[in-house]
Order: sequence, then C-alpha cells, then structure tokens
Amino acid sequence: MSKRKEFQARRLTKLAFSFDALEPIRQLYHSLHADQLSEEIKIGIKAHEDYGDEFANIKMRWYFANSPEALQIFRDVLDGCELAVSRDVVGSSRNRMRVIQANIVEISGSYPEGRWHSDFADPRLGMNESATLLTPLLPFESHFGGLETTSVIRGESLDYDDHATVHRYREGEAILFDGTGTIHRTQSYQAAEHERRVLVCWQFGDVRSDLIPVFRRIGKKNGDPMFMHGH
Ligand SMILES: [Fe+2]
Repeated sequence: MSKRKEFQARRLTKLAFSFDALEPIRQLYHSLHADQLSEEIKIGIKAHEDYGDEFANIKMRWYFANSPEALQIFRDVLDGCELAVSRDVVGSSRNRMRVIQANIVEISGSYPEGRWHSDFADPRLGMNESATLLTPLLPFESHFGGLETTSVIRGESLDYDDHATVHRYREGEAILFDGTGTIHRTQSYQAAEHERRVLVCWQFGDVRSDLIPVFRRIGKKNGDPMFMHGH
C-alpha cells in the first residue's frame, strides 16, 4: 500500500529517513539548553498541564517555534530529507500542506498513564487536512514509552483502551498521523530522573483559505502561534 493510501485508510503511516538529517534541530536543542540562541530564533516553552496528582512530578516540556526564523530550522530539515514526502502524503496539495507549528517534546524521568487526545480539535477541521509527524531527536532508549493510538474515531465511542495500539519510536523513523482523526497519547513508562526522552514534532495544516481562521483559532486555544506563510 502506498504511504498516501495507508495514511488515508488508517490515519497513520511511518516514514524512514536519515537520523543525521536532524542535526540542525539537535544543535537548536543544545543551544536552547546552553542559553545560546541567537536573538531571532525565538523558542517558547510550555510545561505539562497539571492533569492531577499523578502528574505532579512529571517534567514534560514543549519547546515550540515562536518566530519565523525558528520555524524555518524545522521546515528546512523536513524539506531537505526523505520526510519531505509528508507534504504529498497528507491532503491534496503539496504547496498548501505546510509546517504551521513545530516543537521539541522533552520528558525527563517517568511518565504516567496519559490522557487520550487529538492534536488539532475544531468542528470545522476534517480528516486529511492536518497532521502530526513525530520522531526521536536523540538516541531512544528501549524502555521509553512509544505512541499509543486508538482506532476509535472521535465521538464514536469512549472505549479507547480496548482499541489501542502501541507504536515504538525508532531512530530514523517518523510516525505521521492525522491531526484531528487520530486519538493518541504517550505510552506510560518508567525511567530514571536524569533520562530524557526527546522527540521532534512537526505539525502540518492545509492552508486552504477557509481553514486559515480555523488554525488561528486552534493556535489561540493551544497557546502557541501558527505560521501559515509559504515554504
Ligand atoms: Fe498529541
């Protein structure tokens, strides 16, 4: 089955690429931690929402592109390697399918049972109009949690756990899934406090004119900006 057909049928596909291609994003991540980012590379930080007591000790951070220059680093890596095909796999127009948000997701230590969600939720956004692409940025330990997805469609049933599948993350393999249609969560796992599970995340949106206000609305709700200019 082609990646495109697989994505349309299952709302998820996996793409192989060169792990080395992520080097500019690794440099960005290390500069961020060393507090050495140049002024135009703006990175915002979101902490894990407090879901309850079991999340009180979770150290999860989203480092999101907060300027066009920062976003450009993520776009250039994607367009310069095998992952560029994502823009043909999702939607109906490569030029309109753009990286509208990008971030680095870092978890230090263990992660408890997560909350099922879809990334882009809006009544005006349909299937195959947005997507999320996730892959390990740094060497990925075998005891780290994978991506848990459910075959249940939003609104169909609440029985997510009974229809769950775990996708292991592998270096040099990225998981592409529908932004609105794929309900998912991080698989729970145990790790030492100093261990960091770090992923890169690109978020795609079809910037068709009627969807622009929809993405703006989602960005406002999620608290990080949407970039819809061409690339
Ligand atoms: Fe998510």
